[in-house]
Amino acid sequence: MAGIEILGTGNSKPRKVVTNDDLSKIVDTSDEWITTRTGIKKRNFCVEEKNMDLAYEAASKAIESSGISTDDIGLLIVATFTPDNASPSVSCMIQNKLGLGKDVMTFDINAACSGFLYSLETARAILNQINEDKKNKKYAIVVGSEQISTRLNMEDRGSCVLFGDGAGAVVIGLSDNKRYYSIMGADGNSEALGCTGIQDGKPHVYMDGKQVFKTAVRTMTSVVKELLCKSQWDMGDIDYIVCHQANERIIDTVVRTLKAPAEKFYMNIADYGNTSAASIPIAISEMNEKGILKKGMKVMFVGFGSGFTWGGILMEI
Ligand code: UT7
Repeated sequence: MAGIEILGTGNSKPRKVVTNDDLSKIVDTSDEWITTRTGIKKRNFCVEEKNMDLAYEAASKAIESSGISTDDIGLLIVATFTPDNASPSVSCMIQNKLGLGKDVMTFDINAACSGFLYSLETARAILNQINEDKKNKKYAIVVGSEQISTRLNMEDRGSCVLFGDGAGAVVIGLSDNKRYYSIMGADGNSEALGCTGIQDGKPHVYMDGKQVFKTAVRTMTSVVKELLCKSQWDMGDIDYIVCHQANERIIDTVVRTLKAPAEKFYMNIADYGNTSAASIPIAISEMNEKGILKKGMKVMFVGFGSGFTWGGILMEI
């Protein structure tokens, strides 16, 4: 199967910025505690925006930056665990507005914080199939978009300070010249981390922080090692590693465990908090805007999330 080329990127965040000091007026916490335990300084919460507004803005920026025509897009996938509706999906809600044709396949994927990686893997497989049937539909849009603020229990200081809302998107095409390796998995643990169905009027995130921390470090470390093994590249060959932005200390521990150079690990959690499926595409889009990503680089994306789910993709971009 052909590899993936990233042709355009975009991101979106709600207007309202919530600092750690703002949260300390709502729950018994402090900027000092949140910063030292997580690296987070601020995040954005939706007020009038919905998930679909964030997804739309990120996707339209990605299309614009790619320079491709919407007529050539055959697939739209949105990764999210916080859709506006059980149905229609976020992706269906933005399909028309983006100007995509009626022959476009569009759906949401819920793999929590691993959702964007699951979606990229799915998009690659479907694009390979589409390209055999309809040669004019060469491209896909893959979005990670979350409105987690509506699922937070603002009385639980152990979880409500960690998350933020936002969206990131990429436009991709296939390329026979780009190498691509992936690992995806899940283990069915629903106790340590999740989001309830509606209880007491609204769903909420629950978490055993310590167990999640340990699992995240163990999983992401082994995904990095497995991808290096699969590709036969070593750490020195990799230009950047973008981990799911859940906690700066988790990423620091992965770096130490791997004895890897910290500067290869891109981090932006200070500004966004944990945006679940949106965290990796927001980072990709930011890196692209800053001119960090260059054609031909070898970049690894690694994530874990509720489920537990995990994934890793190592690709030449
Ligand atoms: O996408 C995956 C999402 N989740 C994660 O990535 C979370 C992974 N886990 C973590 O990042 C860390 O476990 C946390 C940052 C959530 C917590 O750090 P910790 O070092 O594991 O703290 P802890 O849960 O052991 O709590 C230590 C203390 C407790 O007080 P006592 O019992 O020692 O008096 C907590 O009640 O910190 C207290 N605490 C807080 N204090 C101030 C918990 N949350 C807060 C808070 N502000 N927000």
